[in-house]
Order: sequence, then structure tokens, then C-alpha cells
Amino acid sequence: MSLNVSPDKETLSRRAAEAVAALIRHAVDQRGRCTIAMAGGSTPHRLYEILATDIRDDIPWERVHLIWGDERHVPLDHPKSNFRMAREALLERVPLLPDHIYPTPITGDPAADAAAYAATIDTLLVPDSGRLDLVLLGLGDDGHTASLFPGSPALAETTRTVVAAPAPVDPRQRITLTFPAINRARNVFFLVASADKAPALACVFGKPGGVAECPASRVQPAGGELVWWMDEAAAACLEL
Ligand code: 6PG
Repeated sequence: MSLNVSPDKETLSRRAAEAVAALIRHAVDQRGRCTIAMAGGSTPHRLYEILATDIRDDIPWERVHLIWGDERHVPLDHPKSNFRMAREALLERVPLLPDHIYPTPITGDPAADAAAYAATIDTLLVPDSGRLDLVLLGLGDDGHTASLFPGSPALAETTRTVVAAPAPVDPRQRITLTFPAINRARNVFFLVASADKAPALACVFGKPGGVAECPASRVQPAGGELVWWMDEAAAACLEL
């Protein structure tokens, strides 16, 4: 595991974007493609913009495959859709191949949608033994990541790749990668910015002043690299 602390969110986003680009190039060199689980929420938006602009031409986009680490169970054009955020910040601005973009199915039944998405991802990852090249994650101020919230039944999932999961805030129905799926990844990048994330980070790293429970601490990719990209405000409790 490694920690990369930046003075601010812009620097964090730039450093992480360069690392994502290098990781994509390496994966393509080694295996001919790169599979990425996109993070939701607001933090990754700037990273996606940088990938789509400043370093756009440094990435072999035609070899990149995108899934979503979690999704709100709302239409893909809904203002709260993680897919919509990524589409506007990145997908519409780079030459990804349309059949390499795998949005979460949103039909009507979250459990059925989760099962369908799990089947899609499991099939996509057959050549990689179920291992994503990169999982991008955010951190909630309550210690959640993806849609793995404190007290959620999804925290106990040990086999399925994707499950439907409840959220304590709207939209309350989510579809999320599970810990087994995340922890199989070759690389996991957390993107954490702002002071309101400091108590959650303190919990993850076992420091004083942390929130009571932090599911994000269970992201421990057994055979992969874990990198925490954070700004100084979020890292305040870590005494680095
Ligand atoms: C979501 C995200 C969620 C997010 C954290 C941090 O669907 O909301 O997947 O896990 O990463 O809540 O969100 P911010 O980046 O907006 O602080």
C-alpha cells in the first residue's frame, strides 16, 4: 500500500490521472487491454476531465474497457447517475469503443440488474481470472466506499461480484461491486479530498478521531497494489 498526499484536490487529480494513464499503458503493453471500474460521486470528476483533456492523447483509449464500481439505481441520464457524471466528464470526449463501455443495467428490479451486471463483468474478466486492472474508489465521510455502507448486508458478500445494496441517503437503492471483486483487482486507487473525509481516513488507518466503522478499510487487494491519493486536508488526522 502507498499513500500519496497532495497539497490540494487539483494536484491530487493531476497526479492520479498521470498514474492512471501510465497504468493503462502498462496493462495494454502486458495484456493488450485495460479494464477499469469507475468511481462515482464528485471527487473523481476532475480526474476524469484531466484524462479527457491534458493527457487524452497519452492513452490508447481503443484498448480501454470501463465498468462502474457502483451506481445509483436511477436512469443513466438522471442527474445523480454515476454513469452520467462520467459520460459528461470523460466518455463523450475520448475515443473509447462503444462496446467497451459497460454501464450498470437499470431496468426495474435492482437484484436482477445486479445479477445481470455480475454476469457481464464475470464474462468480461474471464481472460484475467476475474481481476480488474484498476478499481477507482472514493471514500464517504461515513467510511463507506463504492456503495458498501456501514451496516450494509452487502458487506458480508463473499462470492458474488456485484450485489444490490441499500444506501442511507438518496438514491437509496444502489448496485455495487463487492469486496471479493474489488480485492481481486491488480490495482486499487482511492481518491480522497477535503477535510470532511479526515475522520473516515483516521478510521481506515486506525488513528484517533475516526468514525466508528469504515467499510473502506476492508479494501485490501491480496495480490494487487493499493494507492491512497489524498489531499492534505483529508490526511490531517494521519500525522504524516
Ligand atoms: C457514490 C460513490 C461513493 C462516493 C463517496 C464519496 O455513488 O456516491 O460511489 O462511494 O465515492 O460517497 O463521494 P464524493 O466524492 O462525492 O465525496
